[in-house]
Amino acid sequence: MGRTVEILTGKAELCRSIMVALPDWFSEPEVIEASALAVEDLTVFGYIEADVVTALIALKPHLPGAVEIALIATRPEYHGRGAGRHLVDAAENFAHDSGARLLTVKTLAPRGRDEPQFEATRRFYERTGFVSAEVFPKHWHEDHPCLFMVKPLTETQPGRTAL
Ligand SMILES: CC(C)(COP(=O)(O)OP(=O)(O)OC[C@H]1O[C@@H](n2cnc3c(N)ncnc32)[C@H](O)[C@@H]1OP(=O)(O)O)[C@@H](O)C(=O)NCCC(=O)NCCS
Repeated sequence: MGRTVEILTGKAELCRSIMVALPDWFSEPEVIEASALAVEDLTVFGYIEADVVTALIALKPHLPGAVEIALIATRPEYHGRGAGRHLVDAAENFAHDSGARLLTVKTLAPRGRDEPQFEATRRFYERTGFVSAEVFPKHWHEDHPCLFMVKPLTETQPGRTAL
Protein backbone atom coordinates (compact mmCIF):
# COMPACT_ATOMS: atom_id res chain seq x y z
CA MET A 1 0.00 0.00 0.00
CA GLY A 2 1.42 3.36 -0.99
CA ARG A 3 0.66 6.97 -0.25
CA THR A 4 0.01 10.11 -2.27
CA VAL A 5 2.12 13.20 -1.65
CA GLU A 6 2.41 16.59 -3.29
CA ILE A 7 5.75 16.90 -5.09
CA LEU A 8 7.29 20.30 -4.44
CA THR A 9 10.85 19.96 -5.76
CA GLY A 10 12.50 18.03 -8.60
CA LYS A 11 9.30 17.91 -10.61
CA ALA A 12 10.98 18.15 -14.03
CA GLU A 13 13.48 15.37 -13.30
CA LEU A 14 10.78 13.10 -11.89
CA CYS A 15 8.65 13.73 -14.97
CA ARG A 16 11.56 12.92 -17.32
CA SER A 17 12.46 9.74 -15.46
CA ILE A 18 8.93 8.34 -15.70
CA MET A 19 8.20 9.48 -19.28
CA VAL A 20 11.42 8.02 -20.73
CA ALA A 21 10.43 4.67 -19.24
CA LEU A 22 7.23 4.74 -21.33
CA PRO A 23 8.48 4.84 -24.96
CA ASP A 24 5.28 3.24 -26.30
CA TRP A 25 3.47 6.42 -25.25
CA PHE A 26 6.17 9.09 -25.22
CA SER A 27 8.58 8.49 -28.09
CA GLU A 28 9.63 12.06 -28.89
CA PRO A 29 12.39 13.58 -26.71
CA GLU A 30 11.07 17.07 -27.47
CA VAL A 31 7.68 16.16 -26.02
CA ILE A 32 9.28 14.74 -22.87
CA GLU A 33 11.42 17.83 -22.41
CA ALA A 34 8.50 20.21 -22.98
CA SER A 35 6.42 18.25 -20.47
CA ALA A 36 9.24 18.25 -17.92
CA LEU A 37 9.56 22.02 -18.16
CA ALA A 38 5.79 22.52 -18.05
CA VAL A 39 5.24 20.50 -14.86
CA GLU A 40 7.58 22.80 -12.95
CA ASP A 41 4.75 25.36 -12.93
CA LEU A 42 1.95 22.89 -12.19
CA THR A 43 0.64 21.15 -9.08
CA VAL A 44 2.13 17.66 -9.04
CA PHE A 45 1.20 14.69 -6.88
CA GLY A 46 3.21 11.50 -6.72
CA TYR A 47 2.25 8.02 -5.59
CA ILE A 48 4.95 6.48 -3.41
CA GLU A 49 5.53 2.81 -2.71
CA ALA A 50 8.56 1.73 -0.66
CA ASP A 51 10.31 5.05 -1.22
CA VAL A 52 9.83 4.89 -5.01
CA VAL A 53 7.69 7.52 -6.73
CA THR A 54 5.84 5.06 -8.92
CA ALA A 55 3.52 7.52 -10.65
CA LEU A 56 2.82 11.22 -11.04
CA ILE A 57 -0.04 13.47 -11.99
CA ALA A 58 0.29 17.13 -13.03
CA LEU A 59 -2.69 19.44 -12.67
CA LYS A 60 -3.50 22.67 -14.47
CA PRO A 61 -6.36 24.75 -13.01
CA HIS A 62 -8.87 26.39 -15.36
CA LEU A 63 -10.84 27.99 -12.57
CA PRO A 64 -13.51 28.58 -11.58
CA GLY A 65 -14.91 25.59 -13.44
CA ALA A 66 -12.33 22.93 -14.10
CA VAL A 67 -8.96 21.40 -13.32
CA GLU A 68 -7.15 19.67 -16.18
CA ILE A 69 -4.95 16.61 -15.87
CA ALA A 70 -1.99 17.83 -17.93
CA LEU A 71 -0.09 14.57 -17.44
CA ILE A 72 -0.51 11.27 -15.66
CA ALA A 73 2.01 8.46 -15.91
CA THR A 74 2.86 5.33 -13.93
CA ARG A 75 6.23 3.58 -14.18
CA PRO A 76 5.64 0.52 -16.39
CA GLU A 77 6.62 -2.04 -13.75
CA TYR A 78 3.86 -0.61 -11.51
CA HIS A 79 1.04 -0.52 -14.07
CA GLY A 80 -2.26 -2.00 -12.98
CA ARG A 81 -1.59 -1.74 -9.24
CA GLY A 82 -3.82 1.21 -8.44
CA ALA A 83 -1.38 4.14 -8.53
CA GLY A 84 -3.23 5.86 -11.37
CA ARG A 85 -6.57 5.58 -9.60
CA HIS A 86 -5.10 6.98 -6.36
CA LEU A 87 -3.73 9.95 -8.30
CA VAL A 88 -7.06 10.62 -10.00
CA ASP A 89 -8.58 10.60 -6.49
CA ALA A 90 -5.97 13.17 -5.42
CA ALA A 91 -6.78 15.27 -8.49
CA GLU A 92 -10.47 15.17 -7.63
CA ASN A 93 -9.79 16.30 -4.08
CA PHE A 94 -7.52 19.09 -5.31
CA ALA A 95 -10.12 20.22 -7.87
CA HIS A 96 -12.91 20.10 -5.30
CA ASP A 97 -10.86 22.12 -2.82
CA SER A 98 -10.16 24.66 -5.59
CA GLY A 99 -13.89 25.14 -6.10
CA ALA A 100 -13.95 23.41 -9.50
CA ARG A 101 -16.80 21.19 -10.65
CA LEU A 102 -15.05 19.27 -13.42
CA LEU A 103 -11.88 17.28 -13.88
CA THR A 104 -10.81 17.23 -17.54
CA VAL A 105 -8.19 15.56 -19.68
CA LYS A 106 -7.13 15.55 -23.32
CA THR A 107 -5.88 12.31 -24.80
CA LEU A 108 -5.27 10.84 -28.22
CA ALA A 109 -8.52 9.92 -29.98
CA PRO A 110 -8.85 6.69 -31.98
CA ARG A 111 -7.31 7.29 -35.41
CA GLY A 112 -7.83 4.05 -37.30
CA ARG A 113 -4.51 2.48 -36.31
CA ASP A 114 -3.67 -0.56 -34.21
CA GLU A 115 -2.48 1.26 -31.07
CA PRO A 116 -3.40 -0.82 -28.02
CA GLN A 117 -1.39 1.39 -25.69
CA PHE A 118 -3.55 4.45 -26.42
CA GLU A 119 -6.68 2.31 -26.29
CA ALA A 120 -5.53 1.22 -22.80
CA THR A 121 -5.14 4.85 -21.75
CA ARG A 122 -8.70 5.63 -22.88
CA ARG A 123 -9.95 2.55 -20.96
CA PHE A 124 -8.12 3.80 -17.85
CA TYR A 125 -9.90 7.14 -18.04
CA GLU A 126 -13.27 5.44 -18.59
CA ARG A 127 -12.65 3.12 -15.62
CA THR A 128 -11.83 6.10 -13.43
CA GLY A 129 -15.07 7.88 -14.33
CA PHE A 130 -14.28 10.08 -17.31
CA VAL A 131 -16.79 10.55 -20.12
CA SER A 132 -15.77 11.25 -23.71
CA ALA A 133 -17.07 14.74 -24.50
CA GLU A 134 -15.76 15.70 -27.95
CA VAL A 135 -13.07 14.94 -30.52
CA PHE A 136 -11.11 17.91 -31.84
CA PRO A 137 -9.48 16.59 -35.03
CA LYS A 138 -6.96 19.42 -35.44
CA HIS A 139 -6.49 20.79 -31.93
CA TRP A 140 -2.95 19.32 -31.73
CA HIS A 141 -2.21 18.16 -35.27
CA GLU A 142 -4.23 16.49 -38.01
CA ASP A 143 -2.32 13.24 -37.32
CA HIS A 144 -3.07 13.50 -33.57
CA PRO A 145 -6.82 13.92 -33.02
CA CYS A 146 -7.61 15.12 -29.53
CA LEU A 147 -10.25 13.41 -27.38
CA PHE A 148 -11.56 15.73 -24.65
CA MET A 149 -12.86 13.83 -21.62
CA VAL A 150 -14.58 15.15 -18.52
CA LYS A 151 -15.40 13.87 -15.06
CA PRO A 152 -18.07 15.78 -13.11
CA LEU A 153 -17.13 16.06 -9.45
CA THR A 154 -19.52 14.88 -6.77
CA GLU A 155 -20.17 16.52 -3.41
CA THR A 156 -18.36 13.76 -1.54
CA GLN A 157 -14.80 13.36 -2.65
CA PRO A 158 -12.75 10.13 -2.78
CA GLY A 159 -11.54 8.98 0.61
CA ARG A 160 -13.53 11.66 2.39
CA THR A 161 -16.63 11.14 4.47
CA ALA A 162 -19.68 13.40 4.12
CA LEU A 163 -20.59 15.17 7.35
C1 LIG B 1 -2.79 5.31 -17.85
C2 LIG B 1 -1.93 4.96 -16.65
C3 LIG B 1 -1.47 6.25 -15.95
C4 LIG B 1 -2.77 4.14 -15.67
O1 LIG B 1 -2.02 3.98 -14.48
P1 LIG B 1 -2.11 2.66 -13.58
O2 LIG B 1 -1.38 2.97 -12.30
O3 LIG B 1 -1.66 1.48 -14.35
O4 LIG B 1 -3.68 2.55 -13.33
P2 LIG B 1 -4.46 1.76 -12.17
O5 LIG B 1 -3.74 0.51 -11.81
O6 LIG B 1 -4.74 2.70 -11.03
O7 LIG B 1 -5.83 1.41 -12.89
C5 LIG B 1 -7.03 2.15 -12.66
C6 LIG B 1 -8.15 1.54 -13.45
O8 LIG B 1 -7.86 1.62 -14.85
C7 LIG B 1 -7.89 0.33 -15.42
N1 LIG B 1 -6.79 0.17 -16.35
C8 LIG B 1 -5.50 0.47 -16.11
N2 LIG B 1 -4.75 0.12 -17.17
C9 LIG B 1 -5.59 -0.47 -18.05
C10 LIG B 1 -5.41 -1.07 -19.31
N3 LIG B 1 -4.18 -1.19 -19.85
N4 LIG B 1 -6.48 -1.55 -19.97
C11 LIG B 1 -7.72 -1.46 -19.42
N5 LIG B 1 -7.96 -0.91 -18.21
C12 LIG B 1 -6.90 -0.42 -17.54
C13 LIG B 1 -7.67 -0.64 -14.27
O9 LIG B 1 -8.27 -1.88 -14.55
C14 LIG B 1 -8.34 0.07 -13.13
O10 LIG B 1 -9.72 -0.16 -13.14
P3 LIG B 1 -10.42 -0.98 -11.94
O11 LIG B 1 -9.86 -0.39 -10.66
O12 LIG B 1 -11.86 -0.68 -12.13
O13 LIG B 1 -10.03 -2.38 -12.15
C15 LIG B 1 -0.70 4.10 -17.05
O14 LIG B 1 -1.16 3.00 -17.80
C16 LIG B 1 0.35 4.85 -17.83
O15 LIG B 1 1.31 5.39 -17.26
N6 LIG B 1 0.19 4.88 -19.17
C17 LIG B 1 1.17 5.55 -20.01
C18 LIG B 1 1.06 7.03 -19.95
C19 LIG B 1 -0.30 7.54 -20.34
O16 LIG B 1 -1.00 6.96 -21.14
N7 LIG B 1 -0.67 8.68 -19.75
C20 LIG B 1 -1.90 9.36 -20.08
C21 LIG B 1 -1.70 10.26 -21.22
S1 LIG B 1 -0.84 11.72 -20.75
